[in-house]
Amino acid sequence: MIHVQELSKTFTDPKRGTRLAVDRVSFDVRAGEVFGLLGPNGAGKTTTLRLIATLLKPTGGTATLNGFDINREPAKVREQIGFLSGDMGLYGRLTPREILDFFGQLNSMDTEHRLKRVDQLIAMFDMQNFADVRTDKLSTGMKQKTAIARTMLHDPPILILDEPTSGLDVPTSRTIESAIVQAKKAGKCIIYSTHVMEEAEYLCDRIAVISDGHLKMTGTMDELRAATGKHRLREIFLDLLGLPADVSPDKE
Ligand SMILES: Nc1ncnc2c1ncn2[C@@H]1O[C@H](COP(=O)(O)OP(=O)(O)OP(=O)(O)O)[C@@H](O)[C@H]1O
Ligand SMILES: [Mg+2]
Repeated sequence: MIHVQELSKTFTDPKRGTRLAVDRVSFDVRAGEVFGLLGPNGAGKTTTLRLIATLLKPTGGTATLNGFDINREPAKVREQIGFLSGDMGLYGRLTPREILDFFGQLNSMDTEHRLKRVDQLIAMFDMQNFADVRTDKLSTGMKQKTAIARTMLHDPPILILDEPTSGLDVPTSRTIESAIVQAKKAGKCIIYSTHVMEEAEYLCDRIAVISDGHLKMTGTMDELRAATGKHRLREIFLDLLGLPADVSPDKE
């Protein structure tokens, strides 16, 4: 469903000069699969996801989503995806219900279907208590639920989620994880970036570790374990970055 080939992005900045943020990254994601993208801050995760979502133009390589090429058919690609990025881009003066409804109208959903779908998402994300409160009065988690519900509203075959549970408490993360599991069961193709190792371990069918713009390794948990000789994802991740797992001087 997603086929990424040698994707690269160079940024040129007057202060920092030329910087290769994404360096010949290749991977595939199938329908019904959750693909985790892990990497330290500044590794190139958001840039990779923005390239795939056609919000940035690559300096090299390409990707196809559901058969559509990001370079040649960006508008078609955008029809295939729901994209969640760090800046949630919610209209503060609208309520979650109004935001979802407005987004449904932008996607030309007919009224009956749209109203049903908005109710369905409000229930799925446990938003009943705040669905009719102005968004600028909501907490981080409430806003995040609204933003994720919006990416799923038009039922796209591909979901690209950049740190969907960043800053969220365990119950809210759990609600979001459960929505992702449901989407996977419905055959969606999901790319997911996170810094939460236990969440990636639990949710992802395969995981890619990116560092300094390079993909270090891609595989299932078992494949990553076999390659590194480590068990938990935290240890595997640190090992791939060349860092020791333990910082405590007492545990020599
Ligand atoms: N628009 C831009 N212009 C110039 N440099 C950029 C731009 N966007 C990202 N970069 C640089 O590209 C590199 C990768 O950034 P990116 O945001 O993709 O990292 P990330 O893996 O998402 O990190 P984080 O975990 O902190 O979100 C960084 O060095 C960043 O400063
Ligand atoms: Mg990022």
